[in-house]
Amino acid sequence: MRRDIVHSGAKSLTYAIREIVQVGYQMRKLGQTITWENIGDPVQKGEKVAPWIRDILTEIVQQDQAWAYCDTAGVPETRQFLAEKVNQRGGAKVTADDIIFFNGIGDAVAKVYGFLRREARVIGPTPAYSTHSSAEAAHSGYEHLTYELDPYSNWMPDLEDLRLKVKYNDSIAAILLINPDNPTGAVYPRELLEGIVDIAREFGLFVIADEIYTHIVYNGHKTLHLSEVIGDVCGLVMRGISKEFPWPGSRCGWIEVLNRSRDAAFNTYVNSLLASKRLEVCSTTMPQLVVPRVMGDERYPAHLKRRAGIFEARAREAHEALGDVPGVRVNMPSGAFYVTILFEDGVLNDRQKLEIPDPKVRQMVEGLIKGQANDFRFVYYLMGATGICVVPLTGFCCKRPGYRITLLECDDQKRQWIFKTLASAMRTYLTSA
Ligand SMILES: Cc1ncc(COP(=O)(O)O)c(C=O)c1O
Repeated sequence: MRRDIVHSGAKSLTYAIREIVQVGYQMRKLGQTITWENIGDPVQKGEKVAPWIRDILTEIVQQDQAWAYCDTAGVPETRQFLAEKVNQRGGAKVTADDIIFFNGIGDAVAKVYGFLRREARVIGPTPAYSTHSSAEAAHSGYEHLTYELDPYSNWMPDLEDLRLKVKYNDSIAAILLINPDNPTGAVYPRELLEGIVDIAREFGLFVIADEIYTHIVYNGHKTLHLSEVIGDVCGLVMRGISKEFPWPGSRCGWIEVLNRSRDAAFNTYVNSLLASKRLEVCSTTMPQLVVPRVMGDERYPAHLKRRAGIFEARAREAHEALGDVPGVRVNMPSGAFYVTILFEDGVLNDRQKLEIPDPKVRQMVEGLIKGQANDFRFVYYLMGATGICVVPLTGFCCKRPGYRITLLECDDQKRQWIFKTLASAMRTYLTSA
């Protein structure tokens, strides 16, 4: 090429959750059976979508409108329905114009960071969900800015760390929070959300809240939306149906814009998000027609409660199986469907191993581990020895070693086998050298 055509942020577009899949495919070709514990797709892991939700979709499919483009911001009746839901909570008030549809949160993330002025930065949690951290890094051309989630305080954000980082870096324009969090499963109490909002207010920032898991909370926690605590601060809340219907293949999500009239620049920025969507015409119509029918159905609250109960029971199972392995820390999640297993400082080294009987698989793992972080090394050995594919924690824009598993396996025996096998693999690995 006569010009360099590669975007300066291209190297930041990493997504460990999917990248590990390529390694899994390669190993599968060598004959290894892979158990996919990397991806947060309930349907792929065997969950059957409730028959009444399927029935609603079947009815919607019959409508001609379901096959057409819709308004750029989304189907007006659905946006009105969602705006009323926000207003019923108390807290910030919105209108249908404050609800903007995207092709999943993934699409919203690309635009929210992509159309932010390049010098304006968003600080987000570490460990980080890669879609946010990579998009922010690619947008800015620098490493993603992060604040610490503390594993010794149940993965709660360190607000003092956050405040100081915001105070001494005036390029920071927004704070990202994910509640419930991926990958830690942490759910933030009201005081903590208020603390983040206070920092935003003090320094003139807006808040981005990813609430994709907002209806998957357990262990005595209740759903608490950013709109209920935000007061007069500007905010963008990301919501979707991928995890709670669950329908990740719908590619349907939306943002709630909070307090846009409070700041002219924020309002102009939000209008630019809509303008960028206009270039694509609109987002997927069919799932938008399904949203009010499902979320407004009298069976929906029981559906959410049942699913939260299932994940709570599985979180206990995982915690019981993994929690007492020496050298690792496992916090009990309170929301979403992930568990992060943290290796304590100093317990990993570059000589540890697991026995891999198949020589071809062993050779592949020995090739892969060269120059890798110690948690990647464990993850590759784990896959080679057991076939279980998990995501290394350092792949989540995080300096701490560990890995993430899901609570999604629906086959009870298989899930118990996974947890037991992980516990025994860690014991063997950590004592191997
Ligand atoms: C925190 C978080 N946000 C967003 C998404 C993706 O949402 P969507 O399917 O709406 O793009 C995920 C998927 O795993 C996630 O974990």
